[in-house]
Amino acid sequence: MSVPKYFELEGGDRMPRIGFGTWQAPGDVLEKAVEAALEAGYRHFDSARAYENEDALGRALNRWIGGDPAKRKELFVVTKLPPPGNKAELVEQYFEASLRDLALDYIDLYLIHVPFGFEHVPGDLHPTNPDGSMKVDYSTDLVAVWKEMLKIKESGRARHVGVSNMSEEQLNRLSAIGKPECLQVEVHVLFQQKELIAAANRLGIPIVAYSPLGSKGLVDMLATKTGRDYPSLLELPAVVNIAKAHSRTPAQVLLRFLLQHGVACIPKSTDPTRIKQNISLWDFELSKNEMQELSALDRGVDGRICDFSFFKGVETHPEFHFKNMNKTK
Ligand SMILES: NC(=O)c1ccc[n+]([C@@H]2O[C@H](COP(=O)([O-])OP(=O)(O)OC[C@H]3O[C@@H](n4cnc5c(N)ncnc54)[C@H](OP(=O)(O)O)[C@@H]3O)[C@@H](O)[C@H]2O)c1
Repeated sequence: MSVPKYFELEGGDRMPRIGFGTWQAPGDVLEKAVEAALEAGYRHFDSARAYENEDALGRALNRWIGGDPAKRKELFVVTKLPPPGNKAELVEQYFEASLRDLALDYIDLYLIHVPFGFEHVPGDLHPTNPDGSMKVDYSTDLVAVWKEMLKIKESGRARHVGVSNMSEEQLNRLSAIGKPECLQVEVHVLFQQKELIAAANRLGIPIVAYSPLGSKGLVDMLATKTGRDYPSLLELPAVVNIAKAHSRTPAQVLLRFLLQHGVACIPKSTDPTRIKQNISLWDFELSKNEMQELSALDRGVDGRICDFSFFKGVETHPEFHFKNMNKTK
């Protein structure tokens, strides 16, 4: 099954189906990793204000761009409005801060990061109460926030706007105002999101899969808090056997599965060898039987890793829809 290398967006822009994830990479490490990624051929870079490393990404990208507008055009840079920015009157301010830190004139794709909101506390993107719970902002009006996102697009400072971590209902609600041009959500072999992907396909919204390799960093953080058992995707016997049959690595099989599943993916790595590996996916193909075998690994919502349980109290927000909070094994 051949897979296109890009999603075609409005105005002829193209979003590469393999992008580079940047979450949990410290600034100095990220700068080197982005250089390796550019060298390996990545042109799609996924960032977020909440990752607190946009400045490092911006430095590495700008060194590569070297002031040449044609090179800037080759890139597809994504960043996201953080939870405290989920208030109509604050969207502009948070967007401008991202532009400034990335040191870019425009963003290719700006996403609402999550449907829930935190209180706006200057200098603190993850404000907490004395008991460790999040300062949740219960007044979030997603439609009002989305209208502000559309205004940013109209201004030309974001070429495209979209959403992340939204449910089908939220996607429909926002689409009634203006179609999001991308939905970034967790998708991997254990959590294949078949219904959500079908709904997004009906709406004509491309999906970008985050945590495509099972997010070891997130799993390590969550395991101690939730007591849940998070299987390593890279060690699943079916994945390992298929990798052996193709003389590929388990990571390459997990990523190729997602490409053939119809979504883009944004694996994160700071290791130059793995960075290259994760974009070397275009010269092999999984057979129909292998796709069926991997498809059968889907655990539905039980396969979800990122249920946001690391944000204590967030489940009380009216837009929260992540169902398997604190589920134990
Ligand atoms: N919208 C959202 O809410 C959201 C949430 C989560 C993530 N994201 C985005 O999605 C990106 C990817 O997700 P993620 O970072 O959670 O997890 P991921 O890409 O599924 O996994 C990253 C982990 O896999 C390791 N790894 C990478 N390539 C490998 C390979 N070829 N073989 C073995 N191990 C490999 C990395 O270690 P090394 O670095 O040591 O290679 C790292 O520990 C993020 O960086 C972020 O940009 C978005």
